[in-house]
Amino acid sequence: MTQTKATIAWLGAGLMGAPMAARLLEAGYPLRVWNRTQSKVATLAEQGVHIAATAAEAVTGADFVITMLSDGRATETVVEGVDMAGKTLVQMATIGPGENMRLAERIDKAGGAYLEAPVLGSIPEAKSGRLIIMAGGSEALFARVRPILCCLGNEPRRVGEVGQASAMKLALNQLIASLTVAFSTSLAFAEEYGVDVEAFMAILRESALYAPTFDKKLAKMLERNYQNPNFPTEHLIKDIDLFKDQAKELDTRLLDVLRQLYGRAQAKHEREDYSCVYEAVRGAVE
Ligand SMILES: NC(=O)c1ccc[n+]([C@@H]2O[C@H](COP(=O)([O-])OP(=O)(O)OC[C@H]3O[C@@H](n4cnc5c(N)ncnc54)[C@H](OP(=O)(O)O)[C@@H]3O)[C@@H](O)[C@H]2O)c1
Repeated sequence: MTQTKATIAWLGAGLMGAPMAARLLEAGYPLRVWNRTQSKVATLAEQGVHIAATAAEAVTGADFVITMLSDGRATETVVEGVDMAGKTLVQMATIGPGENMRLAERIDKAGGAYLEAPVLGSIPEAKSGRLIIMAGGSEALFARVRPILCCLGNEPRRVGEVGQASAMKLALNQLIASLTVAFSTSLAFAEEYGVDVEAFMAILRESALYAPTFDKKLAKMLERNYQNPNFPTEHLIKDIDLFKDQAKELDTRLLDVLRQLYGRAQAKHEREDYSCVYEAVRGAVE
């Protein structure tokens, strides 16, 4: 059978990268996957994916390169070692607008093309192809990458140039950080006064104050068990730091408080779900 789909090199098969790569495999894209820790790609290897020993090897022979690494520094380090001439790099992790713009410049100089495409949603949405994808880059490039992005999210949107999609993503993640602390504070206060939690939630759900994320995190907070994270606290801390660093004219004192609370929670609950900030709000961690 003749191969009709473009070959994709996928760099970074962590909590999000592995299920996203699996979606592209299901959609019939020839895949070349690289992950720093090889044991994490065992399932993809069993499914017949080519597992590369290095990022450079993965990229050889690929038309598109997709990165889903932890942060900007890791992405820059990994990309540094590969020849990007003639390739299109689609950067999907949450990294800063400045970091994306620097990477775009570097790829452009190397003779490649660059699209930033951060995502909203977590592991369940990655598995089912329902991520909300925000892209930054030229219209022509977005049109070229769109069929691939459609396998990962329902309706990928181009929101502007490189830097604007990542700014939008950070604006949304600031809401994740602050809403979770706001909810934790009200829940802890209600619990302190012996208020029936279900009665509290019933009124909250009826009100304009409700956000679905409250119910998504409620069980973890009540059970005070934050294991098996979808989104580890360390990444949300990275996003708070990025937001603060990139916000030039705002009063960011709220960010300082959020940073302290998530930092304290992370020190005790390493690599657990970010809803562990409930422990910091309750004063249960130093
Ligand atoms: N989890 C979510 O719900 C979610 C949702 C939206 C966006 N995001 C963003 O998407 C990105 C990935 O998230 P994730 O949850 O998949 O994170 P993760 O599970 O921690 O995976 C991080 C990936 O980056 C790799 N990596 C880290 N440092 C590296 C380095 N110096 N050199 C090479 N590889 C390196 C890791 O390799 P190893 O396996 O070897 O450690 C792994 O493949 C982050 O920017 C995160 O903020 C996450």
